[in-house]
Amino acid sequence: MGGFVTPAALLGCDDRTLAKRGPERRPHGPLRQPVHGNRRAAGQTGRVGRRSSERMHRNHCQQNICPMTSSPHPRMAWIDAELARLDEAHLRRRLLTRTGPQQAEVILAGDDVVSFASNDYLGLAADRRLVLAAAEAATNEGWGAGASPLVTGRGEAHTRLESQLAAFEGSEAALLFPTGFAANQGTIAALVGPGDAVFSDAQNHASIIDGCRVSRAETHIYPHADVDALAAMLERRTGVRRRLIVTDGLFSMDGNLAPLPQLVALADRYDAMLMVDEAHATGVLGRNGRGACEHFGLDECVDVRVGTLSKALGSMGGFVCGSQALVDWLTNRARTYVFSTSMPAPLAAAAARAVEIVRNEPERRRRALQSAAKVRDALTAQGWDVGPSESQIIPVIVGPSHAALALSARLREAGLWIPAIRPPSVPPHTARLRIGISSGHSDEMINRCIDTMDRLRTAAR
Ligand SMILES: Cc1ncc(COP(=O)(O)O)c(C=O)c1O
Repeated sequence: MGGFVTPAALLGCDDRTLAKRGPERRPHGPLRQPVHGNRRAAGQTGRVGRRSSERMHRNHCQQNICPMTSSPHPRMAWIDAELARLDEAHLRRRLLTRTGPQQAEVILAGDDVVSFASNDYLGLAADRRLVLAAAEAATNEGWGAGASPLVTGRGEAHTRLESQLAAFEGSEAALLFPTGFAANQGTIAALVGPGDAVFSDAQNHASIIDGCRVSRAETHIYPHADVDALAAMLERRTGVRRRLIVTDGLFSMDGNLAPLPQLVALADRYDAMLMVDEAHATGVLGRNGRGACEHFGLDECVDVRVGTLSKALGSMGGFVCGSQALVDWLTNRARTYVFSTSMPAPLAAAAARAVEIVRNEPERRRRALQSAAKVRDALTAQGWDVGPSESQIIPVIVGPSHAALALSARLREAGLWIPAIRPPSVPPHTARLRIGISSGHSDEMINRCIDTMDRLRTAAR
């Protein structure tokens, strides 16, 4: 019969008893959905310990702790207090709704704006070719993946994409994860554990930080891009089972590159594994768009390269590439792979199309980087602090969070969407605007960004 467990069954009573108590006493408010299944059976289930269940339910409702009731229990009141504190510190985030596709020009909370907010660096998120690839895969392979690939089997779209990514990256093998976050977290925890040591750049992405934490390896955080400090740490920390150096290839908030040649040398000297997260560099940097490792000519010297499909590739999902042995190990031991459902086949198909476009249309990455150089040079000349940016990501560092919010608001009034990035996403007192340049930005959009920033700079003097 019907598969739903009724609220009554959950509470150990029948529907009539529940109805008598009135809607305010229903566990999830008034029932909006028809009750499926065998009511009598549900009632029978309820006979076991029904009295005590009813008493429990009554107590719960009287105490107003039913999960879906509108007013929270006092024990949840701390959240309001914490949110108020975030408000006071100008650190509260609020969601805006975007209408229509993610592209250079969007409708944000009802306003037409040119967006410099996204990581869609090659303008592929709304590309018709990706949409058609996804639609075709949805028609042929359906939507949901059903379970972990180890349980249901990998879809053909996933298998094809893994081979394609390995070929694109010039690696022996590649493995897909549901997200880039999952790829970083699961991979680190599969590579190191108790008795090991991991050395992580202070400005690494949250997914790397969390990977280090869940791995339970000793974590040594070296000052941002400071290879001397890292060398000293590696020199000191001997006698562990395995060592791993992990870094973003292209830092997402400053737009600068990791000192990969020196990191490769240190990894060799100290016999440490080296893992590079190419999330913001895949598709943009390097002769073939492989990322920061390729930019330095080091793709073959890095043991573990992580990428995401969700930024320049305009889709969603993460991947790891390296040796076949690495991929086999992660398939067995990366918990975010083993215990998580794979991405839907249409996402894999769209990403596969994006990889082809990255291969065949190198002008996209050239355009993104050229436009970024133009914006960076202009903002520097205007007197803005663009930090160490050397890529399509340009920070405009203003310091206090409220100043970053105010600047972002002025830009929005002028029709430009450049969000303020505040701690904890960036270090304290370094709140900033983060400008993400895409090949999808027209010359007119780029000039408008430069001119508006100039006007605001002059007004602030
Ligand atoms: C450096 C870096 N690594 C990993 C990720 C996670 O990627 P995903 O969005 O695919 O989960 C992000 C996301 O912003 C990132 O900036």
